[in-house]
Amino acid sequence: MRDVTPETLTQAFADYAAKAGDARTKEVLCSLAKHLHAFVRETRLTHAEWMAGLMALTRAGEISTPERNEFILFSDLFGVSALVDMVNTPPGATSCSNLGPFHQRGAPPLPDGGDLWKGQPGEVMVVAGRVLDAGTGQGVAGATLDMWQNADNGFYAAQDAAQPAKNYHALLTCAPDGSFAFSTTRMQPYTVPYDGPAGDMLRALGRDAWRPAHLHVIAEAPGYRHLVTELFLADDPYLDRDAVFGVRSDLVVPLRRIPGASAPRHLQAFERLPGTVLHAELVIRMARA
Ligand code: BEZ
Ligand code: FE
Repeated sequence: MRDVTPETLTQAFADYAAKAGDARTKEVLCSLAKHLHAFVRETRLTHAEWMAGLMALTRAGEISTPERNEFILFSDLFGVSALVDMVNTPPGATSCSNLGPFHQRGAPPLPDGGDLWKGQPGEVMVVAGRVLDAGTGQGVAGATLDMWQNADNGFYAAQDAAQPAKNYHALLTCAPDGSFAFSTTRMQPYTVPYDGPAGDMLRALGRDAWRPAHLHVIAEAPGYRHLVTELFLADDPYLDRDAVFGVRSDLVVPLRRIPGASAPRHLQAFERLPGTVLHAELVIRMARA
């Protein structure tokens, strides 16, 4: 097609896709083209601005490794990852939220009542809760929670050679009624990497790179949808300025300070708990597959 105009270009793109083999692929790509075209028309984007964007993507490719993916970071910082999570959260279920780059496959198994604290520095925290069916409110049998968090110094094990491999990573098997408890240390706020082109965008916008402290969780149970989420602490100062837009109210867990002696008695660390510990209560609602 020749002589396309700003007004006819989007339809021309769709016409070129007439022989697409897969209807959904065609729908998604034509919609993406429509919104990109509208963006250029609306902003009257200059050549220099478009080239700056392309160069940022080029640098994102150069800086990305298997451990650090700058394209995913751009998606997170633009809020696109959060929006994909929001439109894919089933009604009544716990909100989906960021996977982030620090998940490690093959987390060490942790029994119900297990200990991740192991005497390490930080505020001792007992996490207790239940995995429930989002429809019935009944406990879910056979649930596992693949969890990971940072240490008191703000670093995940993969970022910190001083920590043992897979420190604060665990695959917890819940009790048959969906209940679980474990001991750990309080997670800490941290900054997303800002030494690449995504960080340049943050600086250009006067934004900061902080994330509120969180516990990452992948919940799985037979017959239920796989859930990737994270849980935040109610007193965290960064809840309303998460750089990656991951905080939703149902993910913010209330915290109490309790005597160590009133923690669940089946905790492996029960005898070693200090006089007072933080207590976080989690409820995870899973949707049927
Ligand atoms: C994280 O939660 O681990 C994370 C999420 C997005 C970007 C960087 C880190
Ligand atoms: Fe994280």
